[in-house]
Amino acid sequence: MRRFDDPATLRALVEDDRVHRDVYTDPAIFDLEMSRLWSRTWLYVGHTSQVPQPGDYITTDLATQPVILVRHTDGSVRVLMNRCAHKGAKVVSNPSGNTGRFFRCPYHAWAYETDGALYAVPRHQGYDGTRMRECEAGRGLVALPNVATYRGFVFARLSDEGPDFAAYFGESLSSIDNMADRSPEGELEIAGGVLRYTHDCNWKMFVENLNDTMHPMVVHESSAGTAKRLWADQSADLPKPMAVDQFVPFVSDYQFFDDMGVRVFENGHGWTGVNFSIHSKYSSVPEYEAAMHRAWGEDRAAQILGTARHNTVYYPSLTIKGAIQAIRVVRPLAVDRTVIESWTFRLKGAPDELLARTLTYSRLINSPMSVVGHDDLHAYRAIQAGLRAQGNDWVSLHRNFDPAEIGQTDLSTNGLSEISMRNQFRAWVKFMTHQEKQP
Ligand code: FES
Ligand SMILES: [Fe+2]
Repeated sequence: MRRFDDPATLRALVEDDRVHRDVYTDPAIFDLEMSRLWSRTWLYVGHTSQVPQPGDYITTDLATQPVILVRHTDGSVRVLMNRCAHKGAKVVSNPSGNTGRFFRCPYHAWAYETDGALYAVPRHQGYDGTRMRECEAGRGLVALPNVATYRGFVFARLSDEGPDFAAYFGESLSSIDNMADRSPEGELEIAGGVLRYTHDCNWKMFVENLNDTMHPMVVHESSAGTAKRLWADQSADLPKPMAVDQFVPFVSDYQFFDDMGVRVFENGHGWTGVNFSIHSKYSSVPEYEAAMHRAWGEDRAAQILGTARHNTVYYPSLTIKGAIQAIRVVRPLAVDRTVIESWTFRLKGAPDELLARTLTYSRLINSPMSVVGHDDLHAYRAIQAGLRAQGNDWVSLHRNFDPAEIGQTDLSTNGLSEISMRNQFRAWVKFMTHQEKQP
């Protein structure tokens, strides 16, 4: 296996306007991504509304490591490594539930409090006179020290090294604000379960695609384009179905996506839809708009609802659509295997039609059974297969490249630019080549 420990070797894979195919295909790169990029950045874990009561938990993976998000008895939210302090068994297998006051390992029944502290060990006398309680085993489940909650979104950083939460995300957090502010009560809650499926591709293909505005009119022509044509043949006085509202903008022309605009920030974050987006022209829901006016006042409500961004990427693990209250979470498994989860939110205090709109969108666009989602999946798999071909080692990210963009920490430009991908790779180089401090 090739080695990439040397920063110069890694830097050589990412040029200003193109990247080497190894970044998508080499298992050694993937391992380094998990230990450097994914461990030193803030990763999305879950939402506090998934764990409302003490003892409520969900389980998930961060950078391939199993973790538990749990509401502790004192009401705080903790992120624990899902790894028994005895022989290492995963303590919790269920995706969610309530554990009561303790977690209990299914192998030899060591028990842990919901902050991870070791509570009980069967036949504990057997440890008298040993050093078990003074070493890692006695400390229980490892609790991640770096956990931050923003408007209910829980993030964690695995490494002790790395930027603090506010510095890492900066102004990009305004997209989470916009999603939460769309609730007349200013709060979100997860609605229903998750749509989760495995993609046979590198995790970066999904993250890059979210703000790849050159693809929808091509890739989704057969699905959304068909819906658009079918609707065009209907009589003008038919009420427009929600599905048509959501399908048709996908096949807008190049000019539409260029005018939409893109804005990027330090550390790989960014959004498309600076000026408007495919979500801007949804049919009005008067009851909801009235509730927003009452809650926020006319001007503020107009400002909140007028901000309809397309996709915001919280690099590397989370992408959100504030205007439709849907998020997608990236869980890398291997260099060519990635789980994508789609979650939907209810806007507290909003009429049910808003939730119906979100669920329709998830079913039509994000679900593994949707007609749009696997258009994209086909493209990702095609890249993963095509990159094996010899004769060209490079992936082109040249569209609208401008040397002046290098080093910028907040930049808006035309929507068809590939700047969001170049910006992600600049963050990639920064975290991948960062040297650990020597103890
Ligand atoms: S591995 Fe968990 S109690 Fe033994
Ligand atoms: Fe797409």
